[in-house]
Amino acid sequence: MKAVQIHHYGGPEELKYEDADDPVINPDDVLIRVHATSVNPVDWKIRNGARKEQGSAHFPLILGWDVSGVIERAGARVKGFNEGDEVYGRPDPGRNGAYAEYIAVRASEIALKPKTLDHSVAAAVPLAGLTAWQGLFDHGKLKAGQKVLIHGAAGGVGTMAVQLAKWKGAYVIGTAAKDNIDFLKELGADEVIDYQAERFEEKLTDLDLVFDTIGGEVQARSLNVLKPGGTIVSTVGIRDKEMVKSKGLHGEQYMAQSDPEQLRQLAHLIDQGKLIPVIARTMPLKEAAQAQQISEEGHTRGKIVLKVSDGPRGDRLDTR
Ligand SMILES: NC(=O)c1ccc[n+]([C@@H]2O[C@H](COP(=O)([O-])OP(=O)(O)OC[C@H]3O[C@@H](n4cnc5c(N)ncnc54)[C@H](OP(=O)(O)O)[C@@H]3O)[C@@H](O)[C@H]2O)c1
Repeated sequence: MKAVQIHHYGGPEELKYEDADDPVINPDDVLIRVHATSVNPVDWKIRNGARKEQGSAHFPLILGWDVSGVIERAGARVKGFNEGDEVYGRPDPGRNGAYAEYIAVRASEIALKPKTLDHSVAAAVPLAGLTAWQGLFDHGKLKAGQKVLIHGAAGGVGTMAVQLAKWKGAYVIGTAAKDNIDFLKELGADEVIDYQAERFEEKLTDLDLVFDTIGGEVQARSLNVLKPGGTIVSTVGIRDKEMVKSKGLHGEQYMAQSDPEQLRQLAHLIDQGKLIPVIARTMPLKEAAQAQQISEEGHTRGKIVLKVSDGPRGDRLDTR
């Protein structure tokens, strides 16, 4: 099969579009013919060696931990999925990823994709959607009527988080660059603060939850906007746990997990028109290096999708 893989840690030039071994499926796996995957920051953090512990330690390594595609074959122990099922999910980052024509994924990590989306849009959902869901609801315990500040609201995770928090009935404040203010209000944010022009901690107080996808000094300043007993949940780690504790706040850091029930709930919301994936651009798989460079600049609005195949049977795109 064709795949984009790395043979060493390093820059985007390490991403090679080339022939790769076909995946071997275990009895609990399904073999998915990949229609599309999407770029997440973890892809380039593993590629450049910053997150070695999160990726598989072997080379060549195929990146990409979002998939939408069609089941080609199911392992002997798989129940509930059949050949031809259209599925999506966040594959295990400890195994080869989905920048490839085929991927072997545990059946317990996937769900049927949203019926109303093409694979090339569905592939934008799993990792960012699960991260937003788990951050807001499992770790942040967000409830209707509460006030939440979402940092990085225009990003892959942020655009999901804004919509999910709004769906939950929360009052949603986002931070973003000026160009994203109107866009985020249309997406459902009640207020958007231009982080380049204003200091959010001078405008906000008594919030129930901060959902932080930025970290560093943004995270430190965020501790001043929470009410006593409030919670900060971070996708990038809590830098000063003692400080959080000393202010009487709760701090939660986490790694998003695969969860098929949550994938089903996300698909349901999408099919009801209550959650809309935001796609910055769609590029062919062979342009993965360029796609990662754009992602690394840190200002993608929503997600970058990598299209692997096309047509009802997953016909190959140009694979020269
Ligand atoms: N723990 C986990 O399981 C987990 C899961 C997913 C992601 N993550 C991490 O979470 C982070 C965000 O992921 P992502 O996929 O959403 O990234 P992304 O799609 O690249 O989005 C980043 C967004 O941050 C915004 N931004 C940059 N600087 C900002 C600032 N100072 N204040 C507010 N917004 C700012 C940018 O929008 P503007 O153009 O408006 O600046 C951009 O849209 C990454 O570090 C990623 O590795 C962790």
